[in-house]
Amino acid sequence: MADDLKIYTYPDPILRAKAEPIVNIDGGTQSLINGMGERMYKAPGIGLAAPQVGLSKRLIVYDLSPKNGAKNLSVLINPEIVLAEGDVVYEEACLSVIDFSAEVKRRAKVKVRGVDRDGNPLDIEAEGLLAICLQHEIDHLNGVLFIDHISPLKRTLYNKKLKKMMKKPS
Ligand code: NI
Repeated sequence: MADDLKIYTYPDPILRAKAEPIVNIDGGTQSLINGMGERMYKAPGIGLAAPQVGLSKRLIVYDLSPKNGAKNLSVLINPEIVLAEGDVVYEEACLSVIDFSAEVKRRAKVKVRGVDRDGNPLDIEAEGLLAICLQHEIDHLNGVLFIDHISPLKRTLYNKKLKKMMKKPS
């Protein structure tokens, strides 16, 4: 089995790059998808975007199945939000933003267009946690993190906390 993919964490610059569209869904893409799925389940998390594992590609994986239920990995390549309505506030966290969570305002319902791992076009109409997860992961493809959506004061406090954590020898 391949080594686990490394998860890049804030403030790594890879998380700030605008990711490139995937033109060919080849064997490399399939192994990346499998690796990202494994890494996400191991974390554990409900979503992961390719830039979080150091690859600036427009690819996300997610799974909102209950913890003890069967796994059902969803894959979206080159996803785009084509419709959005309403507002919702939810407490978010991110595998790339260690030891922090905060309430973020998002659109309550979204329609997302992309292709699946076989290249078939997909339109997903989402609300609730799925809508939030998709917006959070698509943000990653545009170099945006959930902490960009919180107040500057909260972000400053987190940056201070992070600096302290990084100084501590582990
Ligand atoms: Ni995230």
